[in-house]
Amino acid sequence: MMQIAVMGYGTIGSGVVEVLEINRERIAKKTGQEIGVKYILDLREFPGDPYEEQIVHDFSVIEKDEDVCLVVEAMGGVNPAYAFVKACLESGKHVVTSNKALVAAHGTELLQIARDRNLNFLFEASVGGGIPLIRPLTQSLAGEEILEICGILNGTTNYILTKMDQEGQDFETALKKAQELGYAERNPEADVEGYDTCRKIAILTALATEREVNFEEVYTEGITRITDTDFQYAARLKTSIRLLGVSRMDGERVSVFVCPVMVQADHPLYAVSDVYNGVVVRGRTVGTIMFYGSGAGKLPTANAVVSDIVEIAGHLSDHIPFGWSAKKQALTPVEEQNFSYFIRFAGQAAEKFADVEAVFAGARLIELEGKDEFAVITGRMSEARCRKLAAAFPDILQTIRCF
Ligand code: HSE
Repeated sequence: MMQIAVMGYGTIGSGVVEVLEINRERIAKKTGQEIGVKYILDLREFPGDPYEEQIVHDFSVIEKDEDVCLVVEAMGGVNPAYAFVKACLESGKHVVTSNKALVAAHGTELLQIARDRNLNFLFEASVGGGIPLIRPLTQSLAGEEILEICGILNGTTNYILTKMDQEGQDFETALKKAQELGYAERNPEADVEGYDTCRKIAILTALATEREVNFEEVYTEGITRITDTDFQYAARLKTSIRLLGVSRMDGERVSVFVCPVMVQADHPLYAVSDVYNGVVVRGRTVGTIMFYGSGAGKLPTANAVVSDIVEIAGHLSDHIPFGWSAKKQALTPVEEQNFSYFIRFAGQAAEKFADVEAVFAGARLIELEGKDEFAVITGRMSEARCRKLAAAFPDILQTIRCF
């Protein structure tokens, strides 16, 4: 029997226990042993829960028990998850986590401790929810040069944008529903301000470059300023608006950004709606491949955690080479990155478009009937140039980068 502990009995932690139960026989056959949940760490009591007897409130019970060889961290947030995970590794236990905030902030150190102690620190569930993504990227594409990663990496915001786009729902209603469905982070700001996507694209970039990526250096914009009017223009243009996390290899540097993007109908991510995530990876020899599936939610995410448990069960006494080094990856500042832009201006096109066209040469006009505003799509230019040109127009209502 392989004894494990689960820290955090919320959506993901309880999902992990459930998936281990549902797939018990299959997992035992695969790993050659039963997996037993010896402890569940949570501050709360769970009267009547089938695992009520396993609930503990004191982390040191898990830390000190030598029977526990693997700990699942599903608490979320950086503290106290970081201290607990570090202590688990230092006491010789493998760790699996679904916590992107923890991995993005402390992954380098935790990976190094795992390496030094011949242990494993795996986090398949931290990006893309239930989609097998990190293992294909690091194992199936181990010998490939990754040129670009472009993803819808947050289920909550994709759900909200889809509802705004297809059903005309307002932002608050769609967010509330996403929270009820268990998609959202503890703090919804992390989803809607793009922080969650930022950490996920930082993790994927670090895995692709095998260098540490400082998520705080990643240009990040959320979706809170996207309006129904933007979607009306998007419909007119046969495009949609998605929150993307993008990473493009740029010589020794990498261009990484997170922001809402107006996506053309022929882009593979255009069709990724609701809570689904989609990640397009372009490699030098493999070409373009796409990963698609449930990006959030209890059982899909728990399944990814369980896949790491099963992986480690076959490597209890050895370290699987994985992760990135402490060497820092240089990022290209957003000002030097190139986009075309969707820009909305207050006023009538008949009066103002000529001025706009004189500054944004080649800009294409888009008008909606009955509105005292118009929009343009510009040619490609650097962010710095766009900002400089836009400074001449105090009546800009919105700017969205385009693919
Ligand atoms: N809040 C996250 C999302 C959960 O909505 O995608 C999965 O990481």
